[in-house]
Amino acid sequence: MATKSALTQQLGVVAGFDDPRVDLEQYRTPPELAAHLVHTADLQGDVEGRTVVDLGCGTGMLALAAALRGPEHVVGVDIDPAPLSTARENQRRVGTSSGVSWVRADAAAPGVCPAGETTVIMNPPFGAQRGNEHADRAFLATAAEIADVSYSIHNADSADFVESFAADNDGTVTHAFQADFDLPRTFDFHDEERRHIDVEVFRVRWD
Ligand SMILES: C[S@@+](CC[C@H](N)C(=O)[O-])C[C@H]1O[C@@H](n2cnc3c(N)ncnc32)[C@H](O)[C@@H]1O
Repeated sequence: MATKSALTQQLGVVAGFDDPRVDLEQYRTPPELAAHLVHTADLQGDVEGRTVVDLGCGTGMLALAAALRGPEHVVGVDIDPAPLSTARENQRRVGTSSGVSWVRADAAAPGVCPAGETTVIMNPPFGAQRGNEHADRAFLATAAEIADVSYSIHNADSADFVESFAADNDGTVTHAFQADFDLPRTFDFHDEERRHIDVEVFRVRWD
């Protein structure tokens, strides 16, 4: 297995959103965090030979990280067609030979029912925008429906929420770790060049 730092380096070519939409919380997952999540998943046997679905794939960062680790197939799902074009271009840049399908769909009401053993990886909207609270809940519900294991990035202090959602939906949180998320200035209302966000990543096994 290649190292996490080699994976981070390969993901360095993944371009960000051309014209990011604030209502959809479109910001690129940092390559370091994507590599950390996917390397951890790979060590758990949750990538190789499996179907991996990235819900809210955006630029394809997480999907492409998984595609570099020998999955059976990768599916990237986003509701907005614009980032899916970017993701296709990013696939070309990364140069993975694994099959990746880019699908326009609502991750909260997926028409995607992958066959076989499925891992969901995702950096869903945190629900930070007004009227969009608990956006990550619908993504977790989809993971519970289509996957037997999921890895999801949430804002800090989400442990109680994720654990209780999992418990109510035949899931168990088996791993959790904190990570740094360095968000470059993306939207007009961001008044700093970079903002540091504390996030938490959870692995949930769904029965
Ligand atoms: C935080 S970004 C994820 C970024 C992605 N991991 C990347 O590195 O580019 C959240 C993504 O979820 C997508 N999204 C928001 N609501 C969605 C929905 N209901 N169904 C599918 N995708 C959605 C947004 O368009 C955005 O690309």
